[in-house]
Amino acid sequence: MYNTTKILNGTVELKGDKSLSHRLLMIASLIQANSSLKNISISRDVYATIECLRQCNIKIDYGNEITKIYKSNFIQPEVILNCENSGSTLRMLMGLLHGQGISAKFNGDASLQKRPMNRIMIPLKKMGATFEQSHEGFPISMHSLNNYSIKYDEKTKSAQVKTSLIFAGLGSSEISYISYNKATRDHTEKIMNSIGFDIAIKNKISVRKSNVKIGFNVRIPGDLSSAAFIIAAAILIPNSNVIIKNLLYNKTRMTFINILIKMGAKISIKNISNETCGMQSCDLYIKYSKLLKGVEVKDNDTIGMIDEIPILSIIGCFAKGVTHIQNIKELKVKESNRMHAIYHNLYNMGADISQDGDSIKITGHKKLYNTSINHFNDHRIAMSFEIMRLVIGESMSYEYSNIIDVSFPDFYRTIDELLS
Ligand code: S3P
Repeated sequence: MYNTTKILNGTVELKGDKSLSHRLLMIASLIQANSSLKNISISRDVYATIECLRQCNIKIDYGNEITKIYKSNFIQPEVILNCENSGSTLRMLMGLLHGQGISAKFNGDASLQKRPMNRIMIPLKKMGATFEQSHEGFPISMHSLNNYSIKYDEKTKSAQVKTSLIFAGLGSSEISYISYNKATRDHTEKIMNSIGFDIAIKNKISVRKSNVKIGFNVRIPGDLSSAAFIIAAAILIPNSNVIIKNLLYNKTRMTFINILIKMGAKISIKNISNETCGMQSCDLYIKYSKLLKGVEVKDNDTIGMIDEIPILSIIGCFAKGVTHIQNIKELKVKESNRMHAIYHNLYNMGADISQDGDSIKITGHKKLYNTSINHFNDHRIAMSFEIMRLVIGESMSYEYSNIIDVSFPDFYRTIDELLS
């Protein structure tokens, strides 16, 4: 349909998964021993986590090859912790620091300041934290004088909230019970369980004060959410053939790939590794997939691929029939209102898209026109529409490095290496 001349061809390996990188840094900071991480994410978000931990006296040597986290004690930071654009940093750190009895003041960029924090502050208050906020909401001061256990039913279906409460639960010798939605990513509990924290994963997660004295040395599998952009380009650009090696393999993160396979994408998962430190990797083989069909994405599937919805919407434009994505309420409170960003840009390009409450419908195979894209300062929106440009036969604009750096600094370089 489009005049695409270039194809995507070759084998790549990606920097470590961002969700895992945040968590492994934070978990290592809790251990009374040294740990090391290979292939850590080089994203700005993860760097924000490193800087915040350093301000709390955690000694970290950040290296291209290997990052070391040394046995350290938490000390109350003297400066405001700047979480920049990273919701994971802010929300998870609040729970982590509260569990360690550390009071701190948090801030972030304009996007982070707009994001909902009550989902964390309400349960943390029940666990003994108190908060003070400026009139505008930020900075937020957290005082951590008492630590109580909690029995909490986590209703927002957020892995960040779940993680934060698990970390906060380490502050009390009484068991905390956290009920959670099974579709949310399970990295925190799996890693902690595998390295000796006092945590059990059943219908509820139960966790309490733990004393872990053995560090870990692991290689972080490649970032699945970054891979989503390469996968999309490979299935949509004729004759493409791409292999992504050592990518994260985790059931709570495979929804995007499973949905694409359901749509008719030629993707195979090979060489699934054994579990190390609660993590597995695999190799992904992806081929151009001419006959994609629309798909119904329901509640839990949306949660399982919450960061991949923008790029799925692009793919939906090239599938036969309707792609109906439901329950995307959470998408409105991400780095931007992603529901609006997707609708606004696709509508302007001439796509057949409609929104209704918390769902969007896209009917594929409409002629699309390249118009100026509003990325709303959101890395995943910027990358999604750079891929859209490639698919409709344009070049990428290469204008958004500063935004894309938040999660995938190698984005342009990786795609360029594969383009031939
Ligand atoms: C994340 C969980 C998701 C996701 C975010 C990373 C995590 O957020 O959107 O990019 O690492 O736990 P929510 O838990 O708020 O849905």
